[in-house]
Amino acid sequence: MLKDKIKNNNFKVGVFGLGYIGLPRSIHFAKANINVLGFDIDKNKIKKIRNKESYLSSVKSIQLKSIVGKKFNVTNDMSRVNEVDVIVLCLPTPLKSNNIPDLSFIINTMNKIKKYLKNHQMICLESTTYPGTTEEIILPILKKRGFELGKNFYLLYSPERDDPGRKIINSSIPRVYCGLTHRCTLLGNLFYSKIFDKMILVSSIKTAEMTKLFENIYRSVNIGMVNEMKKICDKMGLKIFDIINAAKTKPYGFNVFYPGPGLGGHCIPIDPFYLSWKAKKFNIETKFIELAGRINRSMPDWIIKKTLRIIKIKSKKSKNIRILILGVAYKKNINDCRESPAFEIIKKLKNKRINVQYNDPFIDEIPKLRNYNFKMKSKKLTKKLIQSFDAIIIVTDHDRYNYDMIRKNNSIIIDTRNCYQKKYENIYLA
Ligand SMILES: NC(=O)c1ccc[n+]([C@@H]2O[C@H](COP(=O)([O-])OP(=O)(O)OC[C@H]3O[C@@H](n4cnc5c(N)ncnc54)[C@H](O)[C@@H]3O)[C@@H](O)[C@H]2O)c1
Repeated sequence: MLKDKIKNNNFKVGVFGLGYIGLPRSIHFAKANINVLGFDIDKNKIKKIRNKESYLSSVKSIQLKSIVGKKFNVTNDMSRVNEVDVIVLCLPTPLKSNNIPDLSFIINTMNKIKKYLKNHQMICLESTTYPGTTEEIILPILKKRGFELGKNFYLLYSPERDDPGRKIINSSIPRVYCGLTHRCTLLGNLFYSKIFDKMILVSSIKTAEMTKLFENIYRSVNIGMVNEMKKICDKMGLKIFDIINAAKTKPYGFNVFYPGPGLGGHCIPIDPFYLSWKAKKFNIETKFIELAGRINRSMPDWIIKKTLRIIKIKSKKSKNIRILILGVAYKKNINDCRESPAFEIIKKLKNKRINVQYNDPFIDEIPKLRNYNFKMKSKKLTKKLIQSFDAIIIVTDHDRYNYDMIRKNNSIIIDTRNCYQKKYENIYLA
């Protein structure tokens, strides 16, 4: 019985998708003495893990040393799903064009593994998605295979809440979850309690799916609002960070969000549109989501206009402009550049025939991305390099940057992250 196997730690977890979420999750299980078999279609990732080499900035290779080949093994052979007891799906949920959810990764995986599934396994979907996905996409495949849910097969949704780069112990992040049936829920609790300190049971799978979307929409809308506040303050000659710092002293009713160059990452720019799409099926418009999306997407343009205006005023230059972007990762200290606003800035600068280069200590080369294909390499950050540009735009505030050296070697620093909290003449908040 699955219950006894989990209770006695005599079970194996199959983690599908060894990306930003699946790899740390696999390590988390393995360190808790649970046998893990990781699955990925990316042969390069499989090879690297087997060589105990990490490809994520959030995972150190040393973390793989003691577990790979022992508690943690990996494969791209999907038929080996029949070796595991619990299947955890950490698969991508991107958008297609027109902001339509792309569930192809979940559907393809289910189609590949369905014939190898066996009685008394449990599937836990962790990917972020719209309410209804687990029951509308995964459940019918299981039913068609003849499983009786809650009796000889178990299904669960529990969203991933990790925030790569943030130094918070994963186990301490409360885990929202719900199973399809009472028995699925009990097994889900037993399973995730192995690695999480606090379990938050919600009333249905759809509630769990919606909770994750709500968390990300809350961020997107609040970031949209603070970005709009930044534009208003800029026009009025007020300093947005003075206002934020004062407002956040209120002990209740105010949660702080910071303005920036726009949204990035696999979550905040994407997930809200999963709800917009689903809400349309109920004839509901998601006005906050659309508005926040518009404001957040307008930030690169606003930053560019401000940069060019400052260059024109300070350097009297409107031709042969050279701009250096610092940071293309979507947030500090990580090597994930998916949906980074840096790329929209680079694209728009290139369209204006501006010579644009970048440096990012975490990203040597810009990979091929969903909407961009730049073929650019990170420049070595030296005093001479900084001096050779008309302006520097700080898009990502990596801790590794020597901010003092940067500010001393260029007369126009566009600071989109408030790295320089002190006032220097050549720092322009944007
Ligand atoms: N990255 C985050 O910060 C974060 C935070 C919370 C939630 N999430 C959610 O977690 C999910 C996974 O995100 P991620 O950032 O880890 O994605 P990712 O792209 O980093 O990783 C996904 C992995 O799945 C693999 N894959 C694709 N198809 C496969 C298949 N058929 N079988 C096996 N592997 C396959 C890919 O090769 C890739 O390695 C998404 O739904 C995302 O929204 C992400």
